[in-house]
Formats: sequence, C-alpha cells, structure tokens
Amino acid sequence: MQERTLVLVKPDGVKRRLVGEVLRRFEAKGLKLVGLKMLSLSKEEAEKHYSVHKERPFFRDLVNYITSSPIIAMILEGNNALSVVRNICGSTDGSKAAPGTIRGDFSISIEKNIIHASDSQESYNHEFPIFFKNSELLSFEYGDEVLF
Ligand code: CMP
Repeated sequence: MQERTLVLVKPDGVKRRLVGEVLRRFEAKGLKLVGLKMLSLSKEEAEKHYSVHKERPFFRDLVNYITSSPIIAMILEGNNALSVVRNICGSTDGSKAAPGTIRGDFSISIEKNIIHASDSQESYNHEFPIFFKNSELLSFEYGDEVLF
C-alpha cells in the first residue's frame, strides 16, 4: 500500500554530518522523496510534535534537545513506507538497535538517536502539518519506477 511518512534528522544527525548518509539509505531502498526542508523547531512546535510523550519524565529534555539546533524534515513515499522506514531506522535505543539500521550503525543513545520517523498513520497525520503544508509536497516521477 502506498504510504507517506515523516522523517526528521535530529540535531545530533545534522551536527555529525549524517544527513547525506540518512538520505542515501532511503533513496537506495526505493523510497520517493516528496518534501525536504531544514528548520529550527520552536518549543511550541516541539511540544505538539511530542505531545504523546507529555507525561513522560523525559518530555522536557526531549523538547529542549530537538529545539537545540537545526533539523531536517522530509516526507518519504512508497510501498508500506511507514514500516519500511521504521525498520531502516532501527529500534529507538541506539545501544540496542540492530547493526545495519541507522541507529544501530550510528547511535549508542536513546536521546541522541539520529532520527525520528512516524510510527503509524495516526502519528503521521498528527506530525505532518507541524512541518509541511500540502503545497510543499512535490509530485514527479523518477522514471525508473519499474525497477523497484
Ligand atoms: P523519537 O522517535 O524521536 O520519539 C520519541 C523520542 O523520545 C525517541 O525518539 C527517543 O529519542 C526519546 N525517548 C524515548 N524513550 C526515552 C527515555 N526513556 N529517555 C529519554 N528519551 C527517550
């Protein structure tokens, strides 16, 4: 099923110059990049993005961290994109994530875990408008779709 998902490269990923590596992995898988931007998230936007975690003890640290430095936001599209992207990211805690995943290869922390990806259609619907307007998503064909 064709789906879209939101991916963020968090401050640690940007500062460690891993944006290209992250994008490379998603492109190589065959996902389609339909939206991309660099931004600094406000506290209000971060609180909304992470509102599902607002009662958790790490909520304030999470908001402070994601707003500490610029991030990358992207929308990826493809067959089962939500679960495909989550699998490429690896489990949340970098110290436990499997080698071969982004977190497994580049993170040893649960907070500085390089990347965020929507965990469900419901999460995507909540997260998308924080980062993008519909008009910022682009419609195009690579021309090699038959190969994927
Ligand atoms: P992310 O995919 O951005 O979604 C919520 C984030 O909360 C998660 O990645 C982790 O970085 C962070 N997180 C989850 N659990 C903990 C925890 N126990 N302590 C600190 N941060 C956490």
